[in-house]
Amino acid sequence: MAVYQHDVVVVGAGLAGMRATLAAIQKGADVAMITKVHPVRSHSNAAQGGINAALTSRGDDWDEHAYETVKGSDYLGDQDAIEVMCQEAGAAIIELEHMGVIFNRDEDGRLGTRRFGGQQRARTFHVADITGQAMLHVLYEQILKVRARVYEEWFVTSLVLDDNKAVRGVVAIELMTGQLHLIKAKAVILCTGGTGRVYEPSTNGLIVTADGQALAYAVGASVMDMEMVQYHPTTLMGNGVLITEAARGEGAYLVNKDGDRFMQKYAPNFMELASRDVVSRSEQTEINEGRGVDGCVLLDLRHLGRELIETKLSYINEVALDFANVNLAEQPLPIRPGNHYEMGGIKTDVNGRTPVAGLYAAGECACVSVHGGNRLGANSLLDTIIFGRRAGDAAAADAKETGEVKVSDSVISIDRDAIKNLMDRNPTSDTPAKIRLEMGKAMNEGVAVFRDEAGMQRALHTVRELRERFTGLGVHDKGQVFNTNLIFALEVGFMLETAETICIGAIARKESRGAHFRTDYPNRDDENFLKHTVVTKGPSGPVITYSPVTVTKWKPQVRSY
Ligand code: FUM
Repeated sequence: MAVYQHDVVVVGAGLAGMRATLAAIQKGADVAMITKVHPVRSHSNAAQGGINAALTSRGDDWDEHAYETVKGSDYLGDQDAIEVMCQEAGAAIIELEHMGVIFNRDEDGRLGTRRFGGQQRARTFHVADITGQAMLHVLYEQILKVRARVYEEWFVTSLVLDDNKAVRGVVAIELMTGQLHLIKAKAVILCTGGTGRVYEPSTNGLIVTADGQALAYAVGASVMDMEMVQYHPTTLMGNGVLITEAARGEGAYLVNKDGDRFMQKYAPNFMELASRDVVSRSEQTEINEGRGVDGCVLLDLRHLGRELIETKLSYINEVALDFANVNLAEQPLPIRPGNHYEMGGIKTDVNGRTPVAGLYAAGECACVSVHGGNRLGANSLLDTIIFGRRAGDAAAADAKETGEVKVSDSVISIDRDAIKNLMDRNPTSDTPAKIRLEMGKAMNEGVAVFRDEAGMQRALHTVRELRERFTGLGVHDKGQVFNTNLIFALEVGFMLETAETICIGAIARKESRGAHFRTDYPNRDDENFLKHTVVTKGPSGPVITYSPVTVTKWKPQVRSY
């Protein structure tokens, strides 16, 4: 075992993690970034369509972006936080461009935009349909430039508390050696991404396993609005691979088996570019009522022409060919709604601070809350950049004011014993993969686009049974070097804990709002549920409380597209 010490430790090396790391270094802190995969393999890599910003210099207005984000959130987003994000977006785009992100240009040579869902204007800046990948590589170059310390392929097993219950570091396994290490810090920023793989299938990478949410929850931080799980309208059947909203942004149609552009019926003004919750429900209705094709509807790009498809949508062009054997210029692509994004997460303020001293969060694992009940497409990359930077700034500033870290080196023995127990247990026929698959399927059946009490209770029951089975789970691989069997088991533990918070939050919210649509409570109920669901770990399980939504100037209205 080795003991390391830094001012600020950032867990996760996606866009939020790297932006936080850069910010904290620029503020003069000694920073280390810990990541379970190489930084450019982080899931931000998979973000396709773009990043939103209202550039006032070209007649757009951050206020309009903020309003559309509030409306998209079904009025559950905190409007003060949304205002911050939208106001700071323009400068963030220019900064990224100056760092080297090669955004597409329009015919006049200015940064080009496309229109994304739930928004009247084209304000989504993009690099073809690989925007996340392009941004991730540029931020990694910045990380290399400032020579940030990166603990690469290290997996964090727990957060470390001092006697005052402040977070003062992490314990992590170095995957290459299997050694456990203690990394002390004055501040820890969690940037570990979403909960995607709590569901099966999902657009998310297999590494998206709710690690940060579970780590924070374990030390007394709350998770907020976890029931708000986004189903993206266009994912491939079976494997759940994302087909970017940019296809519809460039003009693709959604049609049913009769060739009808069915969005005319559900969102006559916005059509295919209504908000994601609305489009996903519309598709699912078409499928449920027998107007689908093999459990899907069709995304038709043929009228866009081969050249546009091959230049602006080249990535999904390849995906469609490789995974569905569909040539987008010649055939429509079968797609359906699939798990994509967690709007909820670790409750933070606009500077990433949680109520637990020393603990910060940013990016998808956090809930600031700027997405409320439904996130607008291309607001997630923006969230990572704005709130990653803010969390880095705040953590570095707070670290300066924090005295010596008082944590005993022996604290590591808690994790060492827990891992030894897991390794010593005789493996049964149960495996992390089996438990994970059963959990994912139960969540996808019970807590999906349409929900009701019975279905959600079934999912919760399955999750709780799986938690029981998890306590008896053994690890087949007893080795030290790259023991992915052990890591998968630890990840499943994190996911089961988080799945429970999603289910109980959903069951308790007896209304329909954003992505949370209950067939047994089909209306939004502002009188009783214009509030955040806050789940905290109690001595005998999760405890739900509620907190008010911040409304600045947009009073809740009927939402239509
Ligand atoms: O469809 C997409 O390109 C996804 C973007 C997002 O989730 O923001």
